[in-house]
Amino acid sequence: MTVPGDAAEPEGARVPATVVVGTQWGDEGKGKLTDLLAKDMHFVVRYQGGHNAGHTIVVGGEHFALKLVPSGVLYPHIVPVIGNGVVVDPAVLVAECEALERCGVDTSRLVISGDAHLIMPYHYEIDRATERYLGRQKLGTTKSGIGPAYADKASRIGLRVQDLLDEKIFRQKLSVALREKNAVLAKVYNRLALDEGEIAERYLGELAPLVAPRIADTVGLLHDALDAGRNVMLEGAQATYLDLDHGTYPFVTSSNPTAGGACVGSGIGPRDITRVVGIAKAYVTRVGAGPFPTEVDGGLADLLVERGHEYGTNTGRRRRPGWLDLVLLRHAVRLSSISEIAVTKLDVLSKLAKLKVCVAYEADGVRLSRVPYHQSVLHRVTPIYEELDGWEEDLSGATELGELPPAARVFLEVVARHAGVPVTFAGVGPGREQFVRLAA
Ligand code: IMP
Repeated sequence: MTVPGDAAEPEGARVPATVVVGTQWGDEGKGKLTDLLAKDMHFVVRYQGGHNAGHTIVVGGEHFALKLVPSGVLYPHIVPVIGNGVVVDPAVLVAECEALERCGVDTSRLVISGDAHLIMPYHYEIDRATERYLGRQKLGTTKSGIGPAYADKASRIGLRVQDLLDEKIFRQKLSVALREKNAVLAKVYNRLALDEGEIAERYLGELAPLVAPRIADTVGLLHDALDAGRNVMLEGAQATYLDLDHGTYPFVTSSNPTAGGACVGSGIGPRDITRVVGIAKAYVTRVGAGPFPTEVDGGLADLLVERGHEYGTNTGRRRRPGWLDLVLLRHAVRLSSISEIAVTKLDVLSKLAKLKVCVAYEADGVRLSRVPYHQSVLHRVTPIYEELDGWEEDLSGATELGELPPAARVFLEVVARHAGVPVTFAGVGPGREQFVRLAA
């Protein structure tokens, strides 16, 4: 394995890393914030998930929709790292790098952990077949093979990125895994068997030579970087309530986006992380099935979806919108030791006469100020809202707190009060420069 990038000479004191984590059900606009913070970073690391993520970044009016490659790739001084906790479809990786190169973005610095697991063709088949089999109970996955790939990792029959470097091992593992997968596909799901030779040829013959130069000891690389005083950012995909352990199971993804997952998925220990930025959209959306106490419908839903362009980056699916849920936000702060909040898409709420934020729930006549421990209760809670004044002004040109209308400032104060940590950033438009920085 190669060790490219910045295996730096010690230069400064070891510095703590920063984690960026979504506090809702994803699509909070993490890409924009990670892109912004990236200016001061040397390494940007993806630690979980795969190409089920979709980070949209607008630079100079051009939209970049990144799925797998860390958003820091757009900065020439950054080494983007795909950590061991990610699941990688090498074909998607190669295609994404080629597309970026065509736009003039240099991807040569990108490195991938050899311990990351591979998404294989049968993972897609099983993802699709399981969803069909579940019928009305389906999860609404992105059908990218994520769950089945993580399941194989846990069952210890997964293939890893480093296996691409060893033909004998790759073929051996593929043969074992495929025997079982084909039996399941044929006998349970009534699907055609996949051809072992074709898969091996595609992965070993076509993709391995393109991926091999990027495979690296990313754990060693990151620790050398921290030792040398370099800034490392760990970029979460999906979000808190899609977390396999802490999310609204089973309507979750199969990895751990919460900050603890950043340690496992990158090989950096908890004491190396001091700053955890939680991203909260000024309203909430979720894709796919699952409980959503503050969900709205009708004209308000259409308005939020259209103004906020709430359609999946990769799948094009319409997202379900709702009011900001501060009960969930408070809990997300605890789960990930969030030290500050970045509020995104504040501009989308402009021109609404009244705004609502959920400050507690009610179930069976009882007021609940925390996320109920039993999920059946979460399914039937009624949100208790605090109503706030809206604002008429267009926020898109604001760059300082003083340029925000008083009602927008009150909104941010309410968020900070309920979250229990400062709001340090407010996004006011899709462009890279459209944000307001607030004092911590
Ligand atoms: P999977 O990650 O494809 O297995 O999908 C599991 C659940 O997570 C589904 O409800 C998806 O809609 C949701 N999900 C996965 N990735 C994202 C994302 O990047 N944003 C929002 N929802 C996501």
